[in-house]
Amino acid sequence: MSSNIYCGGDLTAEIKTALDACAFVVTDDTVAKLYPEITRGAFAIPSGEKYKTTETLLSIIEEMRVRGVKRTDRIAAVGGGVVGDITGLAAALYMRGVEWVNVPTTLLAMVDSGIGGKTAVDFGGVKNLIGAFHEASDIYISSVFLNTLPPREWKCGYGELIKTCLLTKDAYAALCDTAELAEDADGIYPLVMRCVDIKKAVVAADPKEKNLRKVLNIGHTVGHALESLDGYRLSHGEYVMKGMMTEAAMCRDMIDAQFYGGYIKLLSAFTAAPRTTAKLLSEKAAFDKKNTDGDITVMFPVRAGEITEARIPRDEFEARYTAAIKELRSV
Ligand SMILES: NC(=O)c1ccc[n+]([C@@H]2O[C@H](COP(=O)([O-])OP(=O)(O)OC[C@H]3O[C@@H](n4cnc5c(N)ncnc54)[C@H](O)[C@@H]3O)[C@@H](O)[C@H]2O)c1
Repeated sequence: MSSNIYCGGDLTAEIKTALDACAFVVTDDTVAKLYPEITRGAFAIPSGEKYKTTETLLSIIEEMRVRGVKRTDRIAAVGGGVVGDITGLAAALYMRGVEWVNVPTTLLAMVDSGIGGKTAVDFGGVKNLIGAFHEASDIYISSVFLNTLPPREWKCGYGELIKTCLLTKDAYAALCDTAELAEDADGIYPLVMRCVDIKKAVVAADPKEKNLRKVLNIGHTVGHALESLDGYRLSHGEYVMKGMMTEAAMCRDMIDAQFYGGYIKLLSAFTAAPRTTAKLLSEKAAFDKKNTDGDITVMFPVRAGEITEARIPRDEFEARYTAAIKELRSV
């Protein structure tokens, strides 16, 4: 992977220097208000997933044109996964590609979306339908931003954090040893660092998600389908956790029994079974980018450090979902 990643507790001075060297900075309304010193002069888009649209993307590109951004300039994103995904895509498209710097400010963006160069906007009711691979040149992961994160955004970040920790036995053990996932920037920092290392390694091995990188999609087939069905009422991380829980229960017969119990218990502290019907869910999940030959693909942990893929025909997907929901509601 080609990005330089700088990690630390408070990298405000380094971030300011990096942003000063950029011709254009994108943030969102919320981050602009919370961090006026860092985002002064930035173009602020409205906060939230419902603005991860082609309209917002074109407004960014138009502002770049008006401000005279050149092909040799760098731009930057300061914000959560939405700002990062949309700014990265603008950087990929503007004059066929300019360099960009990413400053993730949510837990979710620090452990996942901020690293790896997957950029996108939602379109036609489908998550991330329009996108490109375009890695940031520099990424600044500064846990100081976590101090202003509301409880709900912490919870969203835990979904992707748990997902990433599942990828190695050691990280999952460290996660389970962290007695409580408290909303504490310093306490969570060691786990954030582990996730950064894991994500870096996975992306380096498979930058374009041809094979290995698919392991990062645990919970995402059901999660993305729920997100679209629900009109993005909850946050991405909350849907991912619902997806992780539901996909595990759907594939229970393929999962190590001892691991399964602890995993469902861990997720139950943050989420509950979804409420949608099997038919609606399978209709949406049928659009997932991982699918092949009409089957629906889900990624799930067999045990910590061992992630596998199941390709499930649509009628079986519905039957497994119905059984899973029944089981989860009785937990
Ligand atoms: N590119 C990838 O590989 C990848 C991976 C996972 C998720 N994603 C995408 O990431 C998005 C979700 O990211 P997110 O959860 O960061 O959403 P987000 O960007 O909408 O941020 C969530 C909320 O937190 C606010 N916020 C940001 N930083 C803050 C701070 N420091 N203090 C207080 N509030 C702050 C934002 O304004 C927003 O209201 C989804 O669109 C998802 O598809 C992308």
